[in-house]
Amino acid sequence: MRTDLCGRSILLTGAGSGIGRSLAVRLADKGATLALVGRNEGKLVDLAMAIRAEGGSAHAFVFDLARPSGHEKLVNDVVNHLGEIDILVNNAGISGFCEFSRQGREEIGHLVETNIAGPIYLTHAILPHFIRRNSGHIVNVGSTFGSVGFGCFSVYSATKFALRGFSEALRRELDHTAIRVTYVAPRATRTSLNSDAVMQLNERTGAAMDEADEVAKLIAKAMEERVGDFYIGMPERILVGINGLFPRVIDAVLRKNNRIARDLAGIPAKAWKSGNVRYYADFQKKAK
Ligand SMILES: NC(=O)c1ccc[n+]([C@@H]2O[C@H](COP(=O)([O-])OP(=O)(O)OC[C@H]3O[C@@H](n4cnc5c(N)ncnc54)[C@H](OP(=O)(O)O)[C@@H]3O)[C@@H](O)[C@H]2O)c1
Repeated sequence: MRTDLCGRSILLTGAGSGIGRSLAVRLADKGATLALVGRNEGKLVDLAMAIRAEGGSAHAFVFDLARPSGHEKLVNDVVNHLGEIDILVNNAGISGFCEFSRQGREEIGHLVETNIAGPIYLTHAILPHFIRRNSGHIVNVGSTFGSVGFGCFSVYSATKFALRGFSEALRRELDHTAIRVTYVAPRATRTSLNSDAVMQLNERTGAAMDEADEVAKLIAKAMEERVGDFYIGMPERILVGINGLFPRVIDAVLRKNNRIARDLAGIPAKAWKSGNVRYYADFQKKAK
């Protein structure tokens, strides 16, 4: 069954940049009212003003999803300003490209809090509203890495696997209601989420990269069609399918990627900025 997004009230996290920003503009064009959530107030306010200048409806709500509490208050604030929420899009996320043994505890915690605890707490805060009205749609933005574990993305992959599991279980739990749960898995996308090292990795492994606008268009389509799982890109869909059935085959396929990832993951961000990458790469090779 298709949903018309016109007139819907949508809480969208991570709206200030990348896929979230493109999605916000697209949903506003379709006539939705948007609660734009993120930490960077300037970006959210600029976006809300740009949407309103085009005749759309959007309001900024500054909130750090990685906080341990406050998610109920955010939902109540949005409801008080915009009325009942029809759709929650858990899009905000951070990446972590690093050999696991070198990754700091703080970074690990931040990845878990942002990518999985935040979406779970926000969904928990909004669900009573959806249940009361027996309507609503939860859209979780995962990743190909939520179905295929990639070396040097161990914690990021873990958070996206968790988000996929959460989406699947909740969809089944709510199957007697009119509330829908969608899990969308983009492949690599050209946004600031990806560091210089990850861009280099994508280039060297030949990974296709989508533009944020294309991904936003597909997410909006998944929202209109209220699909369950939605994987973006070929051959990524095939990779996900084979990995589910024959993970050992994918172990072999990804061996070269793992080697390139290990080489690139240890190069510090300051080296990319200073253009001193070759020096660090040689230094690393000697250290091994
Ligand atoms: N880009 C890719 O290659 C790719 C591939 C597959 C999946 N994805 C997924 O797509 C989603 C969007 O990513 P993107 O590529 O558009 O990245 P992006 O451009 O870096 O945008 C991420 C957004 O999340 C927000 N955010 C981060 N931490 C937050 C926090 N603690 N509280 C509130 N907001 C927070 C950021 O806003 P503030 O800084 O203002 O808080 C930012 O607007 C993520 O879930 C990501 O995992 C991306």
